[in-house]
Amino acid sequence: MITPTHSLACELLSLKKDMSNHEIPELSALNFFPESLDYASLKNAAEGCKGCELYNNATQTVFGAGGLTAELMFIGEQPGDEEDLAGLPFVGPAGRLFDKALEEAGIDRSVAYVTNTVKHFKWKPQGKRRLHERPNAREVEACLPWLAAEMDVIAPRILVLLGATAAQALLGKQFRVTKERGVWLDSPMAERVLATVHPSSILRAPDPQEREVQYAEFVQDLRTVAADLNLGAQTRA
Ligand code: URA
Ligand code: SF4
Repeated sequence: MITPTHSLACELLSLKKDMSNHEIPELSALNFFPESLDYASLKNAAEGCKGCELYNNATQTVFGAGGLTAELMFIGEQPGDEEDLAGLPFVGPAGRLFDKALEEAGIDRSVAYVTNTVKHFKWKPQGKRRLHERPNAREVEACLPWLAAEMDVIAPRILVLLGATAAQALLGKQFRVTKERGVWLDSPMAERVLATVHPSSILRAPDPQEREVQYAEFVQDLRTVAADLNLGAQTRA
């Protein structure tokens, strides 16, 4: 069956470049794709990906993880320091805030698949710390085939984009999370698509009050997702 997510993956995988809103570079994740497109082979192949320079300074590829038949998929930006060391997405400070917000919204993380737009940690040294650096457009495009394949394999009914990197990679550079967050968007990528802020942005709030407000808004967006998730469960029961 050709689903919208499947067609996005097909476009990325077969056309390679020259898509209306994507410029997959000559050297990209596609050069490292496995023969069969299932989760285990994709994850395995991604471990050896050298589709852009980011593998050079990272410990390992951090592929998506979670329920492989999940109805709900979250997409972040890229692994951070702790994710790079653990090899798992959203296990560091942003991940802990994300877990807390999910719980408050009534979403069990284990029913979801969680991944990132870019699979290697990009950073620059600051003293002894590794400071997160935003991936550039070329790195995002080079890595996008992994994400397209994950969307194809998992085929989530609900897609939630966390922050501008994921939202702009999938919805276009003109997309503004600040303006269109927390509402169901019209997109062929999944039955339900919603964008919200990135949990890291809440951690960067200038003061505790502001952080509180931003956190509450994030939980509110997740409640919108939870409501649909529960509705889906009732319909199927
Ligand atoms: N931020 C992300 O976008 N992803 C992670 O996995 C961790 C932090
Ligand atoms: Fe490959 Fe993505 Fe890592 Fe670049 S960031 S090397 S494209 S997995």
